[in-house]
Amino acid sequence: MARRGGRATSYYATETRLNPINSFLCVVISFLCVVPVIADAGLYSASDQIIVLSPDNVDSVLFSSSAALLVEFYATWCGHCVAFSTVWKSLARDIKEWKPAVDLAAIDCADEKNRPVCIRFGITGYPSLKFFPAYSSNTTQGREFQGFPRDVRGLRHHIIDKLEMRDQMWPPACPPLEAASEAEIDSFFQTNSVKHLALVFEKKNSYVGREVTLDLLQYENIAVRRVLDTETSLVSRFNVTDFPSCYLYNSSGSISRLKVLNEARVFYSYALQRLPGVVRTGKMKTPIIDLIKNSTEEEWRPFNKTRVYMSDLESALHYSLRVELAAHVTITGADLTALKKYINVLATYFSGRPSVKSALKAVDSWLQEQEGTEIKYSDFRDVLDSVGETSDAVLPEGVQWVGCQGSQARYRGYPCSVWNLFHVLTVQAKEIDDSDPLEVLQAMRGYVKSFFGCRPCATHFESMAQENMNKVTSLSDAVLWLWSQHNRVNNRLAGDLSEDPHFPKIQWPPPELCPNCHSVKWTGEHSWNREEVSAFLQNYFSSDRILSDYLQDETQALIHQRNQLTATRMEKEAGRGAERRARDIHPASLTEEPQGEEQEEEEEEEEPALEEQAGEQYPVRMEGIGGDGKGRTPNREPWEKPQGEQKREQSPRKLRIVGLKLQKTQEDIVDLDSFVNQHYKAKARSAASMSSVVRQRSLQKQDDTEDFQFERGWRVKRDLGSQEQKLGVGVRIEPYPRPQNKHWMSLLSVGFSRLDASLCVLLYLLSSMCLLAMYLYFQLRVKLRHAKVSLP
Ligand SMILES: Cc1cc2nc3c(=O)[nH]c(=O)nc-3n(C[C@H](O)[C@H](O)[C@H](O)COP(=O)(O)OP(=O)(O)OC[C@H]3O[C@@H](n4cnc5c(N)ncnc54)[C@H](O)[C@@H]3O)c2cc1C
Ligand SMILES: *[C@@H]1O[C@H](CO)[C@@H](O)[C@H](O)[C@H]1NC(C)=O
Ligand SMILES: *[C@@H]1O[C@H](CO)[C@@H](O)[C@H](O)[C@H]1NC(C)=O
Repeated sequence: MARRGGRATSYYATETRLNPINSFLCVVISFLCVVPVIADAGLYSASDQIIVLSPDNVDSVLFSSSAALLVEFYATWCGHCVAFSTVWKSLARDIKEWKPAVDLAAIDCADEKNRPVCIRFGITGYPSLKFFPAYSSNTTQGREFQGFPRDVRGLRHHIIDKLEMRDQMWPPACPPLEAASEAEIDSFFQTNSVKHLALVFEKKNSYVGREVTLDLLQYENIAVRRVLDTETSLVSRFNVTDFPSCYLYNSSGSISRLKVLNEARVFYSYALQRLPGVVRTGKMKTPIIDLIKNSTEEEWRPFNKTRVYMSDLESALHYSLRVELAAHVTITGADLTALKKYINVLATYFSGRPSVKSALKAVDSWLQEQEGTEIKYSDFRDVLDSVGETSDAVLPEGVQWVGCQGSQARYRGYPCSVWNLFHVLTVQAKEIDDSDPLEVLQAMRGYVKSFFGCRPCATHFESMAQENMNKVTSLSDAVLWLWSQHNRVNNRLAGDLSEDPHFPKIQWPPPELCPNCHSVKWTGEHSWNREEVSAFLQNYFSSDRILSDYLQDETQALIHQRNQLTATRMEKEAGRGAERRARDIHPASLTEEPQGEEQEEEEEEEEPALEEQAGEQYPVRMEGIGGDGKGRTPNREPWEKPQGEQKREQSPRKLRIVGLKLQKTQEDIVDLDSFVNQHYKAKARSAASMSSVVRQRSLQKQDDTEDFQFERGWRVKRDLGSQEQKLGVGVRIEPYPRPQNKHWMSLLSVGFSRLDASLCVLLYLLSSMCLLAMYLYFQLRVKLRHAKVSLP
């Protein structure tokens, strides 16, 4: 304890020095992101749900407040204060729901600037607690808590005692805490319009009823009253035998006992908060179907709330690797180390589909080979997207939330999947059981710190990690550590703006999901049965329990990726082609008009041929671009392609025109075409302003295809050195575009084999070259003759 205290002190001491800038930035960031303010000061921050007092806010917080306040005066250098700070923080978490009635604050008297405040309240020793009733005037000194208990339960009871003192203003948000009489209960529904009345029957010295009343203070459609065992007529009317016990009474007069795992505060509160019709104030629950229909265009995917879905995990990977990382154009130093660890942990422990695993492994081995101090994101992305070229590795594109669907687009999704991913990784590391207990947690911490887009989340997470991650000494500790930190976050965020009303933040797993995880101490306090929790988590997140519903088809994903890769290459190729042609055309442009037209006709012939090649030859590796051969799996069964592919793999660099004879199925061609079509149409729209040239061309040629040929050349030039287009990809990519228009080749191929068709093209090309040559020859002769004639 002493050692820990010492560490904590020095950590917070440095924090204090950084304080002004730090807190300013945090405040700004937090306001931007609607996340509780973190103003690091002394032992507490606002993310502990404790108001941090300073000379500037002390008056506005303590006086004329509608809630009562309990303030801790402490000094950072005082060992007892450091020890007590954990109790104070736990208390804050424990009575978070009571905030409208009673709130907690703290002030660091060791901080010079706070001295006047501490003197004003007559503080001489630390820690000291003072209670300020609601609407205190600014002349009061507050009521001292003499010899206060050093445990959460004792403090909670003390607070209730103070609240109940008669000589002060009652906080308006606080429901009545005194025991109810029979008459009161009988007339209850005449004067109140709530749906449920919960009655906690208990002995006089029990605090459960009052605690539950305060716990439900922020919920609508429910009221809680305590009834003493001495209220005999009610006790016999309800047939009450146990104290405490809780009964539900509603306006129609029906009575039922609340079924809970244990007759204790936490269980009552949890069960009551979840009764039908009971909602947190300001969190109106609209029927989920309405919400879905009205606010998200996407189709709702029904799912089991108590299961983990692979689709969420793959979506997390996609979003993390293709969207979140993409914000970093170059990755250096600590970020690079973090990325390497993260990818390495994914490659080692992520037990997803084989294709995804090999993609991760390939990226990992590429990344580990990078010895420089920086990498470009684009290189990383190229590796990730080209691994499928030589093997069956692919990370499907796009996100598709299932268990992480929110009732509206702004809820859940990515952060939910990140939690799931990390829980799964800690559990899988435990399953493999031969690694450093901190490996996965360090990787997660590094990733969150360097890349996680929600910056305030990253700050919070980092401070939790600094606090006690080093206490993890085994793999099952690691699983439990992450679970408990997640619960801390849930506690902090319960009732927050970001909470989806359909997925309230609870202390997880709830009793109905894991009854054995919960137990009560002799004091009636809730406690987690950590061994049971550990076993539960290891089962819940185990690889063989992850559901594969709604997953994208691997083969499709691979085909799509290969097509896309080829399309990108085709662009580059076409770009180069255009330059080459430009060079060729240049001398010719000195001659007369008809020449140019002829040239264009030739282009028309050549380019569809190129495009054709794109559709057919996708796995061909071209020099200078492409993945390394890693992550290739010899077993290709699920990926068995029509013979064409194997052939191509044996002779990867076939001649272009000869390559046309490939016997690929037609869908692939159509796929690519429509993809290219769609892709360029979008591009073309955005480029409309710059495309006077394009428009000119479009007038000359009606056919769409020609347009993208040109567009492509233009775009490739513009894209050289620019990452934008790549960075943008992936937020919502249309995974498998449907055929939109028929390609001329498909018409031709009716009744012709591919070989026939390509021979035709070849012959046609040759004959037009012949014609061109003849034409040039005759024109030259005519010119020469003119020249001769015009000579004197
Ligand atoms: C590292 C990290 C830090 C974050 N920090 C913040 C922050 O500071 N402020 C903020 O506003 N948001 C923060 N978030 C986001 C927030 O925690 C939620 O992820 C988000 O609000 C979506 O909530 P959700 O309802 O989907 O549930 P989530 O909390 O995302 O949980 C997802 C699922 O995990 C399961 N689960 C819940 N609790 C546990 C547990 N204790 N152990 C194991 N499984 C559990 C449940 O099935 C739940 O549906 C953070 C997210 C991450 C990944
Ligand atoms: C959704 O639309 C339906 C009718 O179209 C309407 O009755 C309902 O109130 C709407 N829900 C929300 C949340 O807007
Ligand atoms: C959800 O999964 C749990 C655990 O596998 C199962 O017991 C339950 O019946 C499932 N619920 C639904 C609605 O399918």
